Amino acid sequence: MSTDTTEHNRNRQDFSGVESIWLFGYGSLIYKVDFPFLEQRPASIQGWARRFWQASHDHRGTPDAPGRVVTLIEQPGAECKGMAFRVSPKVFEYLDVREKNGYLRFSTTLSFEDGDPAEGLVYIATEDNEAFLGHAPEADIARQIAAASGPSGPNSEYLLRLAESLRALGDDCSHTFSIETFLKAGS
Ligand code: SIN
Repeated sequence: MSTDTTEHNRNRQDFSGVESIWLFGYGSLIYKVDFPFLEQRPASIQGWARRFWQASHDHRGTPDAPGRVVTLIEQPGAECKGMAFRVSPKVFEYLDVREKNGYLRFSTTLSFEDGDPAEGLVYIATEDNEAFLGHAPEADIARQIAAASGPSGPNSEYLLRLAESLRALGDDCSHTFSIETFLKAGS
């Protein structure tokens, strides 16, 4: 199983006096925007690669049959494109619950498409969380995703919607696209 990170996140950043803050989304936060925001802009972060290395016990799988969802892995030279949302700190009361299966809020520097930088936050599930699965061959990841489903729907929907969103953002995420190809081939 996994640790619920909701309480850990509550105490991670001091939002006193802060009216709004940028949140960088690179997974479901790009396409499942079920939270209020003040502004959204395509953005990227440097030195991080998106990987389907995190188990989902609560959204796209179950404790007995976990799905796989994305986290970020440090990789020098990598670029991860996503969507930045300017949100009120109050939004984290909801998002910390949504992202509770191992994700912690980290500070990051993000860049908008015009190159302008901004400070923001990003949810990352690090290797030491109990739901971290780590590397597996992409064909195996696709098979696990094809078989998994949870309260938020089929794991395949998470993958396919993410792949579609990344194409729209112009992100060349070969890891995601390769898993998508395996999934569609049914292999
Ligand atoms: C994110 O989208 O930024 C975090 C991972 C997820 O919720 O899929």
